[in-house]
Order: sequence, then structure tokens, then C-alpha cells
Amino acid sequence: MKYRYPFAAIGHRLEPEIFDILKEANNSMSTYTQGIYQSKFESDFQNKFGLKNCIAVSNAVSGIELIASELDLKDGDEIICPAHTYCASAYPFLKVGAKIIWSDINPKTWLSGPDDYREKITNKTKAIIVVHLYGLASEAYKIYDELKERGIIIIEDCAQSIGSKYNGIPVGSYADFSIFSFQSHKNISTLGEGGMIAVTDENSFARMIKQRHNGHTSYNIFPDQHWKPAMSDVRKCYSSSYPSNFCMNEFQAIVGSYLLSKIDEIISIRKKKWNYARNLLSNQPNLLLQEIPENSTSSYHLLPIRINIDISLIDEVFDKMKSFGIQCAKQYQPLYRYNLFDESASDETYNKKLLKNTDLFYDQMISLPFHESLSINDIEYMINSLIKSIQALS
Ligand SMILES: Cc1ncc(COP(=O)(O)O)c(C=O)c1O
Repeated sequence: MKYRYPFAAIGHRLEPEIFDILKEANNSMSTYTQGIYQSKFESDFQNKFGLKNCIAVSNAVSGIELIASELDLKDGDEIICPAHTYCASAYPFLKVGAKIIWSDINPKTWLSGPDDYREKITNKTKAIIVVHLYGLASEAYKIYDELKERGIIIIEDCAQSIGSKYNGIPVGSYADFSIFSFQSHKNISTLGEGGMIAVTDENSFARMIKQRHNGHTSYNIFPDQHWKPAMSDVRKCYSSSYPSNFCMNEFQAIVGSYLLSKIDEIISIRKKKWNYARNLLSNQPNLLLQEIPENSTSSYHLLPIRINIDISLIDEVFDKMKSFGIQCAKQYQPLYRYNLFDESASDETYNKKLLKNTDLFYDQMISLPFHESLSINDIEYMINSLIKSIQALS
């Protein structure tokens, strides 16, 4: 079925002028990869959000894989991660042998916050993953000092929250590691895929930047004879993990810098539409909105809504929305219900209940299509359709 409003649409459609910029750059470029535009994008990103040591990568999950390798986990090391997030927040840690401990969400903000993390900390906790889901900055910041004192590594998944702030400070800047995504659906995209990581520790940065590009590390033995050997030592920075190629290309980096210069405007356009939708939804019986804590701001990435009705009726709402031509999504199935994370989850009807707020929110949530090209009329149509769908419930 072709939807009038498909869920996954381009977050921000590229302006025609960018293609002239790319064409011009093509005439003078000396390489299509690992060149001056990548360095420029990294320093632009760093400066814009007050981050340290940025590394451009092919997508956010490749960045998370680099971070996971850098943790150098030992047997039994635990990583705390919200079960209510996209799978990519967590699975790279499985690949390096972590034991993942799932945190619940706050029933009002729908994010894991200070209490949810604190409850799961043990003396085996190596790191926590803070996810600013839907674009909203998590309040986990309130326990960062405590985490740092205990030597717990803080990783922020800012894939959906570029430009969000906590206490006026952009997300990602207080963490040991943070990652951003420029996938097609995100607020800005580097031609469909792309990501950025920020790394606080200089030694980690020095290793990770090499690990991004096949682990290349120069030999010092024949400094004047670069051809001896032509390829550098791919195993020099890590003894136990394998390198990868996680590079983005120069055209993506040009687009990245260009969109970054427009990010405030992009966020403010989204904000207007998001507020408009939320105003229409406020005062609707049975519809609950994500609560925005006093010190948090959002990048207005997605528009999740909780429908406070008997969960046996939720599928009917999705069906009705489908009849109005609107493709809604259910985000995010608790990760402990996936076979990837729990081998007993062998079929699609597996319905493990583990965390009260996570389970209830997933059962009752609906995510409407939300992207920049929706007009105010489109938004009005979608919200009215949702209200009608609920009123028509049998
Ligand atoms: C919360 C979260 N983390 C990580 C990712 C992975 O991003 P990418 O597609 O750039 O690898 C996504 C992508 O949707 C996401 O939403």
C-alpha cells in the first residue's frame, strides 16, 4: 500500500545549491576520501557543539563499534543501556562480549534518567549508554559527577539529538564518548549515511582515528622511505581487536559542513511544527505527550505519543490511521524481546515483560510521521485523524 504519509521520509531535503558546491569541489579535489573536507567537517562539528576530538564515520553504528572496541572489556563487565532505544545503541557492545544490563525509562520523559541508571549500577559496571531518544536531552546528566567518581565510562547516543541541550550545553559534550547520526531520516543527513563521534581522552582518540581507517599506523623505521613497506601496520594500536574501514567520503563531509551551518534554522523549523502538533494534542483525553524536563531541550526529531487505552485496542488505532493514509510506527520494541539480545526470543510473538515502564510505554505508544517537509495542514490532518481514530474505537 502506498501511504499519503509514509513514516520514514527524508528528514531534511537537500537544497539545490549544494549540488553546485559539490560540482565545484569535484574540479579541485585531490582525493575522494580522507581529505581536507573531512578534517573541516570534524572541526566545524567540534566548534559548533563544544565537543572534543571529533571523528567522522560512515554511520553512527560504526562509531559505536569503534567505541565498543576501545572499552577493552573484560569477562563480566557490564554495560547499562536503556531497553527502550534503537537496537544500534546496544548491539555493538554485545559484539565485544559485554553483559548488557537493561535500564527502565521514566514514565513521563520516556527516557532512562538518573534513577533508572542508578538502580542498575554494580561494581561490575564498566559504562552506561545515555540515549537522548526522540531528540530530547536525558536528565542522566544529574548523576555524571557520581559516575565519574566511580570510574564509570559515559557514552552518549545522540543519534537523534543533534543540537539538543541540557542546562544550555549541547548534548555529547560531557560524555567520554558520544555519537551522532546523519542517516537519511535524521534532522540532517550526509547523503543518506554518516556519523560523528566525539572522544574526550586523547589516547583513545589517537587509537580510534587510526582504527577508523583500517588501523593504519605509520612505521617509523624508514621515515624517508615511505614505500618500505607501502602499507602501514594495521595491528599496531590494538593487540586484540580488528580494525575496519568506517570512513565517510569527501562529498559527504562537504554536505555535512554545509548543513551544519544551517542547523539552527533547521531545528527552529522543526520546533514550530512540533509545538503546533503538540498544541493540537494537548487536552485530548487519553493522549499523553513526552514531558520535557525544565533543563532539557529537544532537537524535535520525532513525535511519539502515548495512547492511554486498553492495549488490546492499540492495533485498531494503527489500522484506522492506515485507512487515513498515515503510516505510524511503534518505537521501540524493548530490546530484551529480540532474539539478538535474548536467545529465548525465538519467534515474533515473544512478549517478555521485564521493565514496567518500558513494557507499558511500548504497548501504548504510537509515533506519527514527523519530518521537515510536512506542512501545517499535513500536521493538522494527521492529528485530526488520530483523534478520530481513537473516537471510533469499538
Ligand atoms: C538511537 C539511535 N542510535 C543509533 C542509531 C544508528 O544510526 P546510524 O543509522 O547512523 O548507524 C540510530 C539510527 O536510527 C538511532 O536512532
